[in-house]
Amino acid sequence: MPHYIVTGGAGFIGSNLIKDLFRANPGIKITCIDNFDPFYPADIKQFNIRELKDDPHFHFLYCDLATTSANELAEMITEPVDAIIHLAAKAGVRPSIQNPMAYQQVNVIGLQNLLEFAKQKKIKQFVFASSSSVYGINDHFPWKENETLLPVSPYAMTKQAGEMLGHVYSKLFDIRFIALRIFTAYGPAQRPDLAIHKFIKAILRDEPITMYGDGSTSRDYTFVSDIVSGIMAAVKYDKTDFEIINLGNNYSIPLKELIKTIEEVIGKQAIIEQLPEQAGDVSKTFADITKAKTLLGYDPQTNLKGGIAKFYEWFKKNEDIVLRN
Ligand SMILES: NC(=O)c1ccc[n+]([C@@H]2O[C@H](COP(=O)([O-])OP(=O)(O)OC[C@H]3O[C@@H](n4cnc5c(N)ncnc54)[C@H](O)[C@@H]3O)[C@@H](O)[C@H]2O)c1
Repeated sequence: MPHYIVTGGAGFIGSNLIKDLFRANPGIKITCIDNFDPFYPADIKQFNIRELKDDPHFHFLYCDLATTSANELAEMITEPVDAIIHLAAKAGVRPSIQNPMAYQQVNVIGLQNLLEFAKQKKIKQFVFASSSSVYGINDHFPWKENETLLPVSPYAMTKQAGEMLGHVYSKLFDIRFIALRIFTAYGPAQRPDLAIHKFIKAILRDEPITMYGDGSTSRDYTFVSDIVSGIMAAVKYDKTDFEIINLGNNYSIPLKELIKTIEEVIGKQAIIEQLPEQAGDVSKTFADITKAKTLLGYDPQTNLKGGIAKFYEWFKKNEDIVLRN
């Protein structure tokens, strides 16, 4: 049975991925690496993986990838590894402007520690969570993977650097490196700093939601199980040794429409506080997903309203932990 390493596995996308990997491949082994980075409460991350901890095929490794060398990793992980799925990162555009060095340390040096480990252990398959933010300033919508990249935040720049680091290791050390440019993921366990989660929490608490700009900025919101299906297909992909692939939904939804859809789903109106657009944010993201369809058979299934309804169901079911944090 295969053995996969999932880094950032206690986080939003990682915990959803691990559950789906176990569902799709009973008997596989997963080593989950996470350091419960304080970007949002460790309580939430512990909660995300609570059901997994008793599974004998699940092994949790508490480890900071930014400060753990390949040799140290090799001492801790002695069994053969079939693939690494690297999702651990300092996420978030705005906080990266406040603390750029930490983003560099985790998102670039942390990735390189893991690539060195893959090189040492001869692990062929390496899937990397890149981001739509690498496109930056670019109005050729929908974005294709071969666009010129002009990132506008330290976070985005570290993701672009990660893609290039992967290219180097794929060329020099025979590692298959698949970078997936993820477009705004949402769904159960969504990070509390992201719009849909933040908005629903504020509306339920009768607090105002912050709308940056006039509501016309738009995002290609992608339901987490669709992202996870793309990641799982990338783990199996073996036609070439380096690819960059968009994982989006191919719909760009304006912020005003997002808020209206949330109001419809939860049956309550938002109090909107309008503030100027934020530095580091781009005004629109919109994925061309032709390449993902062709190479990975990727076919996103969830529309915005259906996806928000599923997130809201998860939110209500887990209100205790979600509202406490
Ligand atoms: N959620 C999105 O919309 C989105 C969009 C584009 C790209 N991404 C990328 O996808 C990946 C997963 O994102 P997410 O939304 O699940 O974020 P998340 O913050 O929920 O998950 C990331 C996990 O990585 C862990 N981590 C951080 N630093 C670490 C370190 N030094 N060592 C070990 N573990 C560490 C965190 O504790 C966390 O559990 C990230 O790489 C992110 O940049 C996410």
